[in-house]
Amino acid sequence: MKVVSLPGDPGVGPRLASYLGLEHTSLFSKRFPDGEIYVRLLQKIENDEVLLVQSMYPEQNDRLVELLLALELFNRYGNKVSLLVTYLAYARQDKEFLGGEPVSLKSIIKAMVAQGVETLVTIDAHNPYAIKEFLSNIKYVNLLPEEVFAKALSERYRGKEMTVVAPDQGATDRALSLAKHLGSGYVVIQKVRDRVTGQVKHVLDPLSKVSGLAVIVDDIISTGGTIAGIASCLSSRGVEVVVAASHALLVGEALEKLGKSGVREIYALPTVSRVLDGVIYLDIVPYIARELKNEGVIL
Ligand code: R5P
Repeated sequence: MKVVSLPGDPGVGPRLASYLGLEHTSLFSKRFPDGEIYVRLLQKIENDEVLLVQSMYPEQNDRLVELLLALELFNRYGNKVSLLVTYLAYARQDKEFLGGEPVSLKSIIKAMVAQGVETLVTIDAHNPYAIKEFLSNIKYVNLLPEEVFAKALSERYRGKEMTVVAPDQGATDRALSLAKHLGSGYVVIQKVRDRVTGQVKHVLDPLSKVSGLAVIVDDIISTGGTIAGIASCLSSRGVEVVVAASHALLVGEALEKLGKSGVREIYALPTVSRVLDGVIYLDIVPYIARELKNEGVIL
């Protein structure tokens, strides 16, 4: 098997290849003057097994086009394609919330599969159950790397009591997994979003059960609003707060917003091609390598 980095690979591909003793190459890409995207494989790979690595942030739409173009190429050259998407964009529109909306996640997944993906691997996808539902004949693995966060937190806060906080019901699996690895308790907050205005309300009562350090766990930090609302409430009660979120998009003033809400540290994974000062990025390559082997994606 060969590992091929697509232009959005946040550096996982080369490290993963060297960790696993596999050959690695990158796809050449450029943009035409009119904005169209061009990719080219400079060495021929045909009738082989490949693991393509791509992140879809930033910028989602360009990264999606690169991915679709690459899949057409590798498929037509007779390769067996496994795809590792470190950050899957459009994952939150996983159903028709308001009449007239597309199920964007379904559209993205179907487009990938139609271009010949045999195995799809995601890292902490927003809703892996929905993805599974949209896939029929291909293998799907969602890696939930809470043990990576647990290891870092246990080392940093050795002996300190912690409570994991899920900011909404969708984060329950993450909270359960992180709490299990930390040996701590957890609480789940109810989140209600007005689908027209986008405004979010939280039912914060469970926060009274938080003791010790609060670890807010989520898949994505976008504007930071979800986490900041909960962190402000916890810090106003004198609780110390840290965040463990897989995908730190941190758009606009998100980092400042989180700082003002009392978040002490942000732990994230290097799943997107954007690195910000003030975020602690954890190494996930050994974890991914082990899991790809366990799942039989890499033999
Ligand atoms: C939503 O359900 C997700 O899991 C995240 O909680 C959300 O995308 C975070 O967005 P923001 O940082 O803009 O509040």
